[in-house]
Amino acid sequence: MYKSEITLNVNGEERSVYVRHADTLLHVLRGQLGLTGAKPGCLNGDCGACTIDVDGEAMKSCLMLAIEAVGKKVITVEGVQNTSIKTAFIEKFAFQCGYCTPGFIMNSNSLITKYPQADDTQIKDCLESNICRCTGYKEIEDAVKSVLSNNSTG
Ligand code: FES
Ligand code: FES
Repeated sequence: MYKSEITLNVNGEERSVYVRHADTLLHVLRGQLGLTGAKPGCLNGDCGACTIDVDGEAMKSCLMLAIEAVGKKVITVEGVQNTSIKTAFIEKFAFQCGYCTPGFIMNSNSLITKYPQADDTQIKDCLESNICRCTGYKEIEDAVKSVLSNNSTG
């Protein structure tokens, strides 16, 4: 099957991969780059488990072709180690099985970066992009709010 070599900027590194034009970014991140933080769930844009950051915007990587990411900056959950939002998820017990957690973290990280003064409505609107089958959403909201309140007091 025909493949093209492309270079992707992922977590600050230039990575060359051979892809089919129909390969999703999620497929390439996991299968070729070994970045398995973004999770396959619904594969049609509903669950948010595959959420990553592309040029500062939360993006469902199951809905984006790898070739569309050429020339953009891609950040996965592996690229947000030691961030306040990741710590907040742990401190607020905002996960159980953890399958949805990378997507929630990446979506929340995008919100916090773009809207450091986000209000409750903005937080709820943002988190509606992600589904969790295990835990209540309250702990997740608490984690996001704790980072926002730290921003406002910091
Ligand atoms: S796997 Fe991408 S939104 Fe569900
Ligand atoms: S913690 Fe299990 S799906 Fe969210």
